[in-house]
Amino acid sequence: MQDTRPRRSALYMPGSNSRALEKGKTLPVDTLIFDLEDSVADEVKEKARDQVVETIRKRGFGHREVVMRVNAARTAFFEEDMTAAVAARPDAVLLSKVESTAEIYAAERHLRGRPETQGISLWAMVETARGLIDIDEIAASVKKPEGHRLRGLVLGTNDIIRETRVKPGPDRLPVLAWVSRAVLAARASGLFILDGVYNEFTDLEGFEAECAQGRAFGIDGKTVIHPCQVEIANRLYGPSPEEIADAKAVIAAFEKPENHDKGVLALNGRMIERMHIEMAKRTLDIAGQIRAQSMTPEPAPI
Ligand code: COA
Ligand code: MG
Repeated sequence: MQDTRPRRSALYMPGSNSRALEKGKTLPVDTLIFDLEDSVADEVKEKARDQVVETIRKRGFGHREVVMRVNAARTAFFEEDMTAAVAARPDAVLLSKVESTAEIYAAERHLRGRPETQGISLWAMVETARGLIDIDEIAASVKKPEGHRLRGLVLGTNDIIRETRVKPGPDRLPVLAWVSRAVLAARASGLFILDGVYNEFTDLEGFEAECAQGRAFGIDGKTVIHPCQVEIANRLYGPSPEEIADAKAVIAAFEKPENHDKGVLALNGRMIERMHIEMAKRTLDIAGQIRAQSMTPEPAPI
């Protein structure tokens, strides 16, 4: 089944910043990413790991999806991070700097055969030259008979910009080929995909433009670094009132008795085909989930 869970905004919180970890629970984000990787200095990795496990185990996140970002499989922190993830039981573990399918299996081995980890899926950061070159193979491995729990990709644009030394301007021109490549790999393997962060968090206009661009490129949502970016990402990545009205109109047009055997119709001067019904249903499904989310009562503070 297609995963239509809204992931319009996914907020990174440094695992070492207890204030941010608590604040995340109060923000209107779809996804919270508890980071043990690059936002946490090596000296405080252990403390951050303990703090993140404790925070996640206490729950109280309401509708928010909970994700733990662990250090890369080639680092000394990985094994203990994975052990901590099994103890915390987030909804997903986000693997850093993934460059091979072997790294997905390295994480999978910690989860497999343990009933208590059943609900945990794996997500992969795409943020190195090697990872981007091999992204199709890595994503496609989800369909292999031995399978694994990879469900989504997250672009790490800061890392890939650093490694390649490109100099993107506001239009992100040098980055867009990678965005497209990752979107194709995700779609071909039924994964969702989230865009990289926008560092200049006080520039809300630039942030909004980048959200619009990511959405136009087929991305499902934006990773964000600051509370002030959340509502913009939610608005830009959620179905707009116009899109919702249009989706309803497409479905209604094909439901008319006189159109039941038609494969193609004209609607307000444009052609619609039966495949547009599927797109319309997806839009309404996501809109319904967002509506339900906004009506979910927030958990009482602990
Ligand atoms: N998650 C949750 N809350 C956050 C937050 C985050 N990522 N970033 C800021 N806040 C909170 C602060 O705690 C503060 O809350 P308070 O006023 O209730 O105490 C409020 O938002 C305002 O924060 P502000 O003073 O504007 O930000 P800052 O200067 O302290 O921090 C950053 C700026 C960029 C360092 C910080 O936003 C951050 O650490 N972001 C995440 C970075 C990250 O995880 N990077 C890894 C992936 S790229
Ligand atoms: Mg990174």
